[in-house]
Amino acid sequence: MTVSSSFALHATDGTARTGAITTPRGTIRTPAFMPVGTAATVKAMMPESVAATGADILLGNTYHLMLRPTAERIDRLGGLHRFMNWNKPILTDSGGFQVMSLADLRKLTEKGVTFKSHIDGSRHELTPERSMEIQRLLGSDIVMCFDECPALPADRDRIADSMRLSMRWAERSKDAFGDRPGHMLFGIQQGGLEQDFREESAKALRAIGFDGYAIGGLAVGEGQEAMFTCLDFAPGQLPEDKPRYLMGVGKPDDIVGAVKRGVDMMDCVLPSRSGRTGQAWTRRGQVNIKNARHQDDPRPLDETCSCPACRTYSRAYLHHVFRAQEMISGMLLTWHNLHYYQELMQGMRDAIAAGQFAAFEARFHAQRAEGDI
Ligand code: GUN
Ligand code: ZN
Repeated sequence: MTVSSSFALHATDGTARTGAITTPRGTIRTPAFMPVGTAATVKAMMPESVAATGADILLGNTYHLMLRPTAERIDRLGGLHRFMNWNKPILTDSGGFQVMSLADLRKLTEKGVTFKSHIDGSRHELTPERSMEIQRLLGSDIVMCFDECPALPADRDRIADSMRLSMRWAERSKDAFGDRPGHMLFGIQQGGLEQDFREESAKALRAIGFDGYAIGGLAVGEGQEAMFTCLDFAPGQLPEDKPRYLMGVGKPDDIVGAVKRGVDMMDCVLPSRSGRTGQAWTRRGQVNIKNARHQDDPRPLDETCSCPACRTYSRAYLHHVFRAQEMISGMLLTWHNLHYYQELMQGMRDAIAAGQFAAFEARFHAQRAEGDI
């Protein structure tokens, strides 16, 4: 049995990379897309179905799980993997980012952040030390540093102060994490869209030393062009021999652009959330199943897709169950979307290994330009 975790790069094509993270709970093929399982479930999916889409790893959330059902309860019940019946790796986010977007009455100090629960109004505190403790109780395989991220646009002084606070918290996170063979700790680069602050942040993180490095503070409303401009330099500021994780991204075209620029891991609620609102993602772009043009259409969502929604059901059926608000609607569209995302990742891994990423990218954009059938 593997007791330590490691990252191996297998091939590069330009700045795009493919490789694998080895952990005691299994291998994560990179570039990897991590479905989001915020509250100990990928909504509308059984864990074995999530695995069947090709996912090697899930994301869980410190913020949600500490409030309900609590980290201590999950620990008593044998840890998050056992609790939710997912035995492959789990990465947990550290909570600070979710406090800032979801909690009420937040108060930020050097020590950490206090806030009121969005669920019942109860008061809580998160610090780097408490976040590390919660992620340990959950049994997370990849633990994220406790960080803070300003909403963009923000002025340079605010971005610098926030980034430097996150770097002090990164050091406290590393100290509190300690030495835990088989578990990885990732630092999180901040610094907004500013190249000099991103470099300062990367330097601070490299000096502390982490098992992987995330790019945080993007996909917060800056738009794809600005995000790509930042990704033209940010991944290159991080160590080449460690995984690079772009947090909270994204749409399929964001993901392809990020991988092209040297990102190895991503997560986003988009494929699962949009599955529950009638939005499907296919190689021809976005399809709104609610649209009346599907109501008599006997064809599948995508005739080339091997997911259960496409193998078994017509667009007319998917349209009907969405309109009738049947639960199977969210189940089938989420399955399809996660399947499509994982197929996209496999396509990129194969293309990078074959030195064909540019051709893959050209075909990806050409198919989308054709539009839905
Ligand atoms: N999710 C998306 N962006 C971020 C970020 O900057 N930090 C953390 N912790 N989580 C994120
Ligand atoms: Zn499908």
